[in-house]
Amino acid sequence: MTDALNFRLMVEADLDAVLKIEYAAYSHPWTRGIFLDGLKSYEIWLMFEGNQQVGHGVIQIILDEAHLLNITVKPENQGRGLGLSLLEHLMSRAYQRDARECFLELRDSNRPAYRLYERFGFNEIGRRRDYYPAVGGREDAVVMACTLFE
Ligand SMILES: CC(C)(COP(=O)(O)OP(=O)(O)OC[C@H]1O[C@@H](n2cnc3c(N)ncnc32)[C@H](O)[C@@H]1OP(=O)(O)O)[C@@H](O)C(=O)NCCC(=O)NCCS
Repeated sequence: MTDALNFRLMVEADLDAVLKIEYAAYSHPWTRGIFLDGLKSYEIWLMFEGNQQVGHGVIQIILDEAHLLNITVKPENQGRGLGLSLLEHLMSRAYQRDARECFLELRDSNRPAYRLYERFGFNEIGRRRDYYPAVGGREDAVVMACTLFE
């Protein structure tokens, strides 16, 4: 049996634990400074399985529009549906805060993330050419959007 998932907002004291997961999960992670700034202007949610921290997600809400800025599951906990649970939590939170549409960008090469967003209901709406730094050059961003329902 697995422990129940629970969520809470990040505070500054969580920084080290968040960075540990962030650096394990990305080739180009968000830095300490980005998270510190983010605490002032975004909602940063932490996901726990029982009392073990297993991921985090960041949303920005501007009027009726949400932006998903980061979603991360600890590498050893990936592929068990936790990413979808985190995304569902973030989107229901955005809906509660009156957002009715959500946008996101991801690296063209990030197929696991693309499939996760598609499964939730996101559609590809455009591309930004050479948007991300990548090993040996630049990489396109794929832009996706989803209408939020209750
Ligand atoms: C993208 C990310 C958040 C997805 O998290 P996740 O927990 O692995 O997502 P899920 O488990 O919900 O889905 C991933 C896969 O696991 C499968 N899965 C879901 N539940 C499962 C279960 N109970 N048992 C086995 N497999 C399962 C899904 O079918 C999916 O497979 P598919 O991609 O082949 O369709 C995670 O891979 C991650 O943190 N990546 C690094 C950071 C990143 O790139 N973030 C996105 C930036 S845009």
